Amino acid sequence: MNRYYLAPLEGITTYIFRNAYHRYFYPMDKYFTPFLVPHSKKGFSAKEKREILPENNEGLYLVPQIMSNHADECLKTIEKLRVYGYKEVNLNMGCPSKTVVSKGRGAGFLAFPEELDYFLDEVFEGISNTDVKLSIKTRLGRDEPEEFFRILEIYNQYPLEELIIHPRVQKDFYKNMPNLEMFAYGAENSKSRVCYNGEIFSAEKYEEIERSFPDVHTFMLGRGILERPDLLGQIRRRERKSEEGEEGFLDIEKLRRFHDRLYEDYRALGMGDKNVLFKMKEIWCYLGKSFPEKEKVLKKIRKAERLEKYEAAVEELL
Ligand SMILES: Cc1cc2nc3c(=O)[nH]c(=O)nc-3n(C[C@H](O)[C@H](O)[C@H](O)COP(=O)(O)O)c2cc1C
Repeated sequence: MNRYYLAPLEGITTYIFRNAYHRYFYPMDKYFTPFLVPHSKKGFSAKEKREILPENNEGLYLVPQIMSNHADECLKTIEKLRVYGYKEVNLNMGCPSKTVVSKGRGAGFLAFPEELDYFLDEVFEGISNTDVKLSIKTRLGRDEPEEFFRILEIYNQYPLEELIIHPRVQKDFYKNMPNLEMFAYGAENSKSRVCYNGEIFSAEKYEEIERSFPDVHTFMLGRGILERPDLLGQIRRRERKSEEGEEGFLDIEKLRRFHDRLYEDYRALGMGDKNVLFKMKEIWCYLGKSFPEKEKVLKKIRKAERLEKYEAAVEELL
């Protein structure tokens, strides 16, 4: 059977989001934290701790993600994660953001293959006497998809738990379409198990990709789930060809409970009304796409400056 992962989305797929999703929609096989950047503090910051505390992630298989180009710092963070019981960690080699890339991290690291190789060598050496498994989430390169030939050669030297490929280059950001030819090359030539990620926004698109790569059995879903939280449920229903549930229609009752749980959990954090509104509006940027005919009320959500206004607008929509 195929396996499904929720993509990490910085600021959005927080432990609050992951828990609400897991409870109300089709559960994922793996969840990933948004990236943690190593720092010199002894433990984790309060925000980082909330993300990784086992009691905040009960019942979910969670893989913490690290973004670093410095083996020592990365190993220290892996060690800190081990204290919380984590035995699997993911390395971010895909973040396209300018501030990250300018520091040679994320997808920026891909432009320095020799350094990347050295980094992985040290990190794998550092964990060789532990039970930690490492996976990588990668783009194809920084500027050109062909960079991936060399990058994959490097990855293939290490015993990766798996290789998650988002087949774009850094300079694509989220434009252009995933490069399926290059993904096919990766799927064929990777020594580790490969997971596909990128632009799956419908069950039809999933099926198209799934059919194109019969040897790939792991799929990571990101923005598609934010837009339609029941996307995986739809995919699974079609796979099982079962009739339960009305295909194509989002269960508004369920969505309402999911929304309320998110909203209440963010409020309970005591982050202030403004920040709660910011968090919720960010989610609506995606979720709103499920309501193309409701632009007027979506605008009310976007414009709400107080919680009461926000609640009234959501009430009207859902
Ligand atoms: C707002 C936002 C935040 C993201 N944060 C992360 C992150 O922390 N770590 C990571 O590996 N990828 C991050 N990504 C990339 C996604 O995990 C995923 O690779 C990308 O969105 C493509 O998948 P999709 O088309 O299914 O969304 C982020 C993407 C977006 C849009």
